[in-house]
Amino acid sequence: MPDLSINFCGVRSPNPFWLASGPPTNTAYQVMRAFEAGWGGAVWKTIGEPIINTGSRYGSVDLKNERMMGLNNIELISDRPIEVNFREIAEVKKRFPQHTVIASLMVESKRETWHDIVKRAEDSGSDMLELNFGCPHGMSERGMGAAVGQVPEYATMITSWVKEVARTPVIVKLTPNVTDIAHMAVAAKAGGADAVSLVNTFNSLVGVDLDSFAPRPSVAGYGSHGGYCGPAVKPIALHMVSSVAKHPKVNIPISGIGGISNWRDAVEFMLLGATSVQVCTAAMHYGFRIVRDMIEGLENYLEEKGMNSAMELVGKAVPRVEDWGNLDLNYKIIAKIDAGKCIGCNLCYIACEDGAHQCIRVDERPLGDLRHGVLPKHVPQVLDDECVGCNLCALVCPVPGCISMVEVNTGRPPMSWKQLQEARGRSPQCSMEELLSKGSS
Ligand SMILES: Cc1cc2nc3c(=O)[nH]c(=O)nc-3n(C[C@H](O)[C@H](O)[C@H](O)COP(=O)(O)O)c2cc1C
Ligand code: SF4
Ligand code: SF4
Repeated sequence: MPDLSINFCGVRSPNPFWLASGPPTNTAYQVMRAFEAGWGGAVWKTIGEPIINTGSRYGSVDLKNERMMGLNNIELISDRPIEVNFREIAEVKKRFPQHTVIASLMVESKRETWHDIVKRAEDSGSDMLELNFGCPHGMSERGMGAAVGQVPEYATMITSWVKEVARTPVIVKLTPNVTDIAHMAVAAKAGGADAVSLVNTFNSLVGVDLDSFAPRPSVAGYGSHGGYCGPAVKPIALHMVSSVAKHPKVNIPISGIGGISNWRDAVEFMLLGATSVQVCTAAMHYGFRIVRDMIEGLENYLEEKGMNSAMELVGKAVPRVEDWGNLDLNYKIIAKIDAGKCIGCNLCYIACEDGAHQCIRVDERPLGDLRHGVLPKHVPQVLDDECVGCNLCALVCPVPGCISMVEVNTGRPPMSWKQLQEARGRSPQCSMEELLSKGSS
């Protein structure tokens, strides 16, 4: 059986699956039930000066039959007293000493205030600290959360205040609401951060009621910008994690967050550089039990891959994330339609005709025999020489495996854009086509 345990900044966790700071980690009752269900760790709902929340605070985006593809919230940090949260953390640690409990903290930007909360968090027995520099709404207007995480100098300064007194590892949780998140990870590292976690929620406005004109979620007819998360944000979060993992000046452990709902999502984050993964929306949607499938799925996957430990996954795909300029311009694929599977819906034809390169033709070719009551269907045909291999038709085709993208041997050696530029410098008299056909070798 593969070993699912991870080592994060020297702290061992029974598995990489942690609950992210949010509603599911609000109380000891919830965190203990989560640990019983199998979660390896929990980042406590952010602790700070208790706040008052609005009564309406979540809004969501549905996609056809999928409810809550994206979740938006205008909730703030913990509305429970600081001492109650720390007392409960101590209780959880006493009952679950092997599990990872991380205190998420956010206070006003004063050195003494940070020193005080850090000491109190560590006295409670939490294994690590997570600094919430990411909340994009409510707290940012008060000079906290994203207001800190969007200014590199502030992020470095506050992290260094924390590091002056912290005895446990310090994770800085980053906001995605910046131009370059890797830049903020560098700033956190400069302040002494032992790790980073990303992403917090994306600034958003999920919708407007067409009758009342009230933005959603509506508080007595008015709304405010909120934080967006859930499956919809996963691709953006993945990119951000990989960009932090690739940055030569960061090089500290990463906890990946953003739209993780199952073991496959978790593995993708780990392959792109995350050592642990955090989940919020999926736990709110389906409950703590989803971790059972995550554990089983990860175990099976590791076994299939012949790996003994979850740690072996970390960063495996990072070297494959390349600059566009290094990709092979001589790699060629084209679309192939399996006439036997095609249902003649014409979606591929329309997509290629209007949205791509006009290289699918529809012939009226009855495949069945009308005399036996089989209706004819239109099976589209790809014009191989015209197809640029953009994938669009395969992406829109509703029948699995009906359109496949197949590699074509062009006989040309690999040549990237950067290599093409170098070759042009060496042989300015040659055309692009000539240079491409020679390849880089
Ligand atoms: C209702 C709600 C409240 C949240 N509260 C906090 C919080 O107190 N502190 C924090 O760092 N992140 C908070 N988050 C952000 C989550 O920890 C997480 O970063 C984000 O939801 C992305 O993960 P997900 O797509 O799995 O939900 C909250 C998210 C939601 C949906
Ligand atoms: S891959 Fe793109 S260009 Fe080729 S047939 Fe499909 S849609 Fe058209
Ligand atoms: S989209 Fe797929 S099923 Fe529909 S016509 Fe094209 S190949 Fe056939």
